[in-house]
Amino acid sequence: MNDHIAEILVSQEQLQQRIQALAGEIAAAYAGQQPLLISVLKGSIVFLSDLMRALPCPHAIDFMATSSYGAATESSGVVRILKDLDEPIEDRHVLIVEDIIDSGYTLDYLRGLLLARNPASLRIVALLSKPARRQVDVPIDWIGFEIPDKFVVGYGLDFAELYRNLPFIGVLKEELYKA
Ligand code: IMP
Ligand code: MG
Repeated sequence: MNDHIAEILVSQEQLQQRIQALAGEIAAAYAGQQPLLISVLKGSIVFLSDLMRALPCPHAIDFMATSSYGAATESSGVVRILKDLDEPIEDRHVLIVEDIIDSGYTLDYLRGLLLARNPASLRIVALLSKPARRQVDVPIDWIGFEIPDKFVVGYGLDFAELYRNLPFIGVLKEELYKA
C-alpha cells in the first residue's frame, strides 16, 4: 500500500505532536465546560479518537455523516446529510471535528445547519486545510496543518474507501486516480 504513496506530507510523529498541542488549546478554551465533539464521518474518526484521548477535559461525542465524493476527488458543492446527530445540541458547547477543509462547502453547510439548532457556542477544528482550494470562507478555530493542493490519504482520509488505515498523511500517486 505504501507504494501507492508519492510523498509523506505529515508523519505519524508530527500528527501526534500537533494533536497534543491542539488538545491543550481546546481544553483551555472549554475550561469549566463539557463540550460536545461532533465528528463528521468517516474521515475524521482517526483524528477524533486521538484528539479525545489527548483532551483532558470531560466531553461527549456524537457523529454526523454527509454525502462524500464517492470515487471522485472533487467536491460537487452539493452536501447531503446521510446521518444526523443522536441528541439535540441546544445550549451545548459544540466543537465540529473535521479531517480536512477543501472547498469549504461541507463545513459551511454543516455550520449553518448546526447554528440553526441554537448551540451555546459552535467552534471548528480541522486537522488539515487546503487554503488554495477554498470556495467559501468558513471561520475555523483550529487548524492542524495547512497543506498544498494535492489529494491526500491516510489517517482516516480515503480514496474510494481505501488508505484510511495509513498512520501518516500521504499524497496519493496521481496515476491511481487520474485517467
Ligand atoms: P469540502 O466540502 O470540499 O471542503 O470537502 C471536505 C471533505 O472532502 C472532507 O471532509 C473529505 O472527506 C473530503 N476531501 C477533501 N479533500 C480530500 C483529500 O485530499 N483526500 C481525501 N478526502 C478529501
Ligand atoms: Mg470528511
